Amino acid sequence: MVTGTELKEFFTGKKVFLTGHTGFKGAWMTVWLNSLGAEVKGYALEAEKPSLYQDINGDALCESLIGDIRNQQKLLEAVQQFQPDIIYHMAAQPLVLDAYDRPVYTFEVNAIGTANLLEAAKLVQGKCTIINITTDKVYENKEWYYPYRENDHLGGYDPYSASKACAEIVSASYRSSFFNPKDYAVHQTSLATVRAGNVIGGGDWAENRIIPDIVRAVSAGKEVTLRNPNAVRPWQHVLEALYGYLLLAIRMDENPTRFSAAYNFGPLFDESISVAFLVEQAIDEWGRGSYKVEQQAGQLHEAKLLRLDCSKAVNELKWYPKWQAKQAIQHTIKWYKEALDKNQSPLDITRAQIQAYLS
Ligand SMILES: NC(=O)c1ccc[n+]([C@@H]2O[C@H](COP(=O)([O-])OP(=O)(O)OC[C@H]3O[C@@H](n4cnc5c(N)ncnc54)[C@H](O)[C@@H]3O)[C@@H](O)[C@H]2O)c1
Repeated sequence: MVTGTELKEFFTGKKVFLTGHTGFKGAWMTVWLNSLGAEVKGYALEAEKPSLYQDINGDALCESLIGDIRNQQKLLEAVQQFQPDIIYHMAAQPLVLDAYDRPVYTFEVNAIGTANLLEAAKLVQGKCTIINITTDKVYENKEWYYPYRENDHLGGYDPYSASKACAEIVSASYRSSFFNPKDYAVHQTSLATVRAGNVIGGGDWAENRIIPDIVRAVSAGKEVTLRNPNAVRPWQHVLEALYGYLLLAIRMDENPTRFSAAYNFGPLFDESISVAFLVEQAIDEWGRGSYKVEQQAGQLHEAKLLRLDCSKAVNELKWYPKWQAKQAIQHTIKWYKEALDKNQSPLDITRAQIQAYLS
C-alpha cells in the first residue's frame, strides 16, 4: 500500500478538477484531496440537503463551481481556465430507481455529460490524467456466480446501468480517437475508467440506498424495509474505492500509456455479501433496530447477483482492499453514531477515518 506520506508527496500542489464534488463520494474525495495538499476545483450541482458536503462545509475545502455537466460551454470554460493536472469525473445521476423515472435525463447526464467533459479535457495544454468513475453495473449481468472482469461484455438492463456502459464506450472512443496511448507524446493525456461496486460510508443521505435507509429508520425508531434481502453486491467502504482512484492517478502519472485502461475495484471474491447480512451487521453494530421484507407487486428490475474480479487492480496497480465487509460496516455505523449520538464534527470524523484507513 502506498503510504499517506507518499500520497501527500504526489498530490501536494496538484490541480485536481473533480466533478460531482458535492455528492457522497465527491465529498469524501474533497476532504481527502484537501488533506493531501491538492488544489481542488469542483464542478457539480448544488449539494443536496442534507448531505455530507454540507455537513463538512465543503466550500471551505475547494473552489466550488455550481454547474450542469450538460452545459458544455460552462464546462469547457471551467476546465480551460483551471488547466488541471488530474480530472476525476464523478458527476452522474447515480440512482437505479431514479433512472427508471428519468431515463432520458440519466442518459444525458451520464453519457453525454462524459463526452462534454472529455471535450473539455482537450483544452488542457500540458500533461493530464483523467479518471472516469463508472460502476460495476456496466457489465452485461448474467446473474451468475462468476465475478466480472474488465474484458467482459458491457451491457445494462436498466437505464442507469446502460447509461454508465455508454459512459464506458464514450471513454473508450475518446481514448482511441483523441487520447490514443500511441500518440501520448503529442496530446499528453491518459484516460482510465474505474468500475467500483456499491460503496458504504458515513455521511450518505441519498434516498433508496441501504445505509441511509437504515440510519433514517433506526434513528426514527422504525423498522428498516428491504426490497431485495437476498441480493448480493460487492460492497466496500468508500475509502477503498477512493484509495484506488488516488493510486491509479499515481500509476498513470508514472506510466501514462500502460495504465490508460479500465479497472475494477471491489472486495475480494468471498467478501460479496447479501443485503440482509449487511443490514443485520449494521443493526448489530448500532445496538438497536430491526428490519422487515416488503416486496411489492410490479417491483422494478434490479440485479440480484453481482460480483467483481479485481485481480487486474491487485496485480497491476498493487491495490488491495483493506477493510473486510464487517470492518467497513463498523466504520460506517461508527461515523453516524459519532455524528448523531455524540454530536461530533462530521469533518473531524471523516478526517479521522481517512487516517485510520491509512494507518
Ligand atoms: N455510491 C455508490 O455506491 C456508487 C457505486 C458505483 C459507482 N458510483 C458512481 O460514483 C459516482 C459518485 O456517486 P455518488 O454516490 O457520490 O453519487 P451522489 O448522488 O452522492 O453524487 C452525484 C454528484 O453528481 C452531481 N451531479 C448530478 N447530476 C449532475 C448534473 N446534471 N450536472 C452536474 N453534476 C451533477 C451531483 O451534484 C453530485 O455532486 C457516480 O458516477 C456514480 O455513478 C457510485
